[in-house]
Amino acid sequence: MKAALLSAVCILLTAACSITTISQLSQEGSLTYVGESTCSTCHAKVADSFKTHKHNDAYTKLTNNRRYLKLADEGREGSCLKCHVTGYGEAGGFVNPEKTPKLARVSCEACHGPGSRHAMARNGAKKSTIQRKPDCGRCHLIHTHET
Ligand code: HEC
Ligand code: HEC
Ligand code: HEC
Ligand code: HEC
Repeated sequence: MKAALLSAVCILLTAACSITTISQLSQEGSLTYVGESTCSTCHAKVADSFKTHKHNDAYTKLTNNRRYLKLADEGREGSCLKCHVTGYGEAGGFVNPEKTPKLARVSCEACHGPGSRHAMARNGAKKSTIQRKPDCGRCHLIHTHET
């Protein structure tokens, strides 16, 4: 019982803390990436179902790839990153695996778009602030690309 109460308090605290960060971001007016840990405070079930998803390996697999390593040596890895991480080159998006470890994969916002406004929105405005149906074809071309 005590443990259950404690964990409930922890969850509330975590939610409150991440919301402060988002509130700071949205005060600047721009739409930014907030990361999966924020989404999962309200969508825990969906987040759990994604834990074993292939999209989680998108960056790891990329960084084991010979062609990628060669491009990275030349500073041209951006051409690969735009489909293998979340929000590359965008506000609040992937920078590198140390600074933005949670975005080093195809995560929630790679499909649903940057979620700062949605996370902050009042309940009646939740649906209108996030993209429900992703554009898979943005990354999945008709033919598998050469690696
Ligand atoms: C503070 C709580 C909260 C956070 C944080 C949050 N959501 Fe939501 N989200 C909701 C609620 C509540 C709904 C349901 C709205 C409804 O049914 O009216 C919703 C609905 C959605 C939907 C469905 C929209 C639709 O048209 O049916 C998607 C997709 C979604 N959220 C994705 C995300 C993503 C991605 C993140 C992280 C960037 C996120 N949410 C963060 C509360 C939250
Ligand atoms: C237009 C989006 C896009 C770009 C750009 C892109 N990829 Fe991919 N990549 C994908 C998708 C989607 C998959 C998974 C489906 C498939 O294999 O086609 C994938 C899969 C892979 C895989 C895993 C293949 C396997 O064995 O399962 C590797 C490795 C890879 N890409 C490397 C690269 C490299 C290197 C670059 C840059 C030169 C790159 N990708 C650029 C979308 C992209
Ligand atoms: C590979 C793309 C992709 C990723 C990654 C992804 N989603 Fe979704 N999501 C979808 C699709 C597709 C739907 C169904 C849309 C429809 O047809 O209604 C959906 C639906 C949803 C819904 C509304 C339906 C429901 O089950 O409640 C929520 C909420 C949601 N996603 C949240 C998330 C969160 C949170 C994450 C990260 C943990 C995430 N999604 C990651 C593609 C994705
Ligand atoms: C931001 C780019 C991006 C978006 C958007 C995206 N994907 Fe992917 N997807 C990838 C990459 C990259 C991989 C390769 C991951 C790996 O092999 O490690 C992948 C892998 C997959 C796989 C596994 C392929 C295999 O060879 O086993 C499936 C299935 C898939 N995606 C379906 C979808 C669907 C359906 C959507 C839309 C709801 C979607 N993806 C949206 C980038 C994306």
